[in-house]
Amino acid sequence: MFYIGVDLGTSAVKLLLMDSGGQVRNIVSKEYPLYFPQPGWAEQNPEDWYEQSVEGIKELLRDVDRAQVAGIGFGGQMHGLVVLDSGGRVIRPAILWNDGRTGEECEYLNKVVGKETLSRYTANIAFTGFTAPKLLWMKKNEPENFARIEKIMLPKDYLAYRLTGVHCTDVSDASGMLLFDVEHRRWSREMCEICGIRQEQLPRCFESFQPVGRVLPQAAAQLGIPESVLVAAGAGDNAAAAVGTGTVGEGQCNISLGTSGTIFISSRKFGVDGHNALHSFAHADGSWHLMGCMLSAASCNKWWMEEIVGTKDYAGQQAAIEKLGENHVFFLPYLMGERSPHNDPLARGAFIGMTMDTTRAQMTQAVLEGVGFALRDSLEVAKSLGIELTRTKICGGGARSPLWRKIMANILNLKVDILESEEGPALGGAMLAAVACGEYGSVEEIAGAVVRVVDTVEPEPELAARYEARYRQFQQIYPACRPLFQLL
Ligand code: XUL
Repeated sequence: MFYIGVDLGTSAVKLLLMDSGGQVRNIVSKEYPLYFPQPGWAEQNPEDWYEQSVEGIKELLRDVDRAQVAGIGFGGQMHGLVVLDSGGRVIRPAILWNDGRTGEECEYLNKVVGKETLSRYTANIAFTGFTAPKLLWMKKNEPENFARIEKIMLPKDYLAYRLTGVHCTDVSDASGMLLFDVEHRRWSREMCEICGIRQEQLPRCFESFQPVGRVLPQAAAQLGIPESVLVAAGAGDNAAAAVGTGTVGEGQCNISLGTSGTIFISSRKFGVDGHNALHSFAHADGSWHLMGCMLSAASCNKWWMEEIVGTKDYAGQQAAIEKLGENHVFFLPYLMGERSPHNDPLARGAFIGMTMDTTRAQMTQAVLEGVGFALRDSLEVAKSLGIELTRTKICGGGARSPLWRKIMANILNLKVDILESEEGPALGGAMLAAVACGEYGSVEEIAGAVVRVVDTVEPEPELAARYEARYRQFQQIYPACRPLFQLL
């Protein structure tokens, strides 16, 4: 049988075809526009997601026996607010995970409602990208739109809704809404009251590996697949990526270098970071995880390469990088503000330390290193909680660069396991579909059977020590710049 994984990303949707044995048979990617209507805002049209997913699935299945397709599962960009009216029509463009417009609403939630209360109800505090503050923003700034809301959902859930007609979500993605009681895996009545919404407006919440329904006849005909195809609830992209990289069960780590950068630590037990610098979310394998999320990771490199240097030849630019661990240029990667651990929507990107002899290669290197140092900030929080890690998996577009993987291994001082496929969320989505269809008994079972480590990058003691010293310097830069960012 075949399973389709849909990774609904920020710049593109990736469709992946996996067979029963876990072999990746085909991958297709389709881009759609990302709108920045004001600095720090980010929106997309849900209709674009659906159209491109349909086109992508048709292309994905062009040369295979479509009758063999058994299931579809998702990994989706998290936290985005999608709102539909009573006719099932999208009310306004989706407000995305990296949108920073809700500073005031987060102040209200964290200061007036209070972080302790939020953490008690949801295991998390308010961050600008989370969904609940966006609802408060809509209520204040677009009261007419707010009054028309019949259904609230997350980005990937819009695809499930169009495919099955079921208003659903899954526990991992629901965790990022600040409306969900993560410990008990159910909606928080108190948070609904605080945000002025009714629980009926929220989707029915499933475990990620559960089927939500079958494809509607019309969708089946459009895609050319059998009406028997089951749609799995799927997961937020980070939990799906964790499934796709085998980061399940106790104490496993995955790093994702996509538009965002995340460090994801799986756990069989529910737990909360006392300062809520790391998110505490439900995992797609039925358990929980802690996660640090930086808003701009591979996107910093993309911005630097394509917008500033003016090339798509990333490897060519990286080939000019000479000495690791000795760069005197630093880069702060806060191009969309920052989430973990600073929670500062006003933070901005910065280069510092250039001299007359600074080269473009050193600045390229600073960008790659800056992302590594910022992820190290979240790793430090995990260490402060007593979590001991010695190795991590890695996935996402940035994970394709051998140089960046080496920089990561040495900045984080972790062994970095390289997988046969770095397509974390898309593969994870397909794996969740295979579990939903009963091909495998559990998420841990399929992860054990299909995820293959093909290489490991070991930290080099001398280089790791040089990066340790540089990280201590990096740690000083953001606190020094913070007052300036507030002025800017
Ligand atoms: C996680 C987060 C991002 C998005 C990216 O909390 O906001 O990783 O899910 O798609």
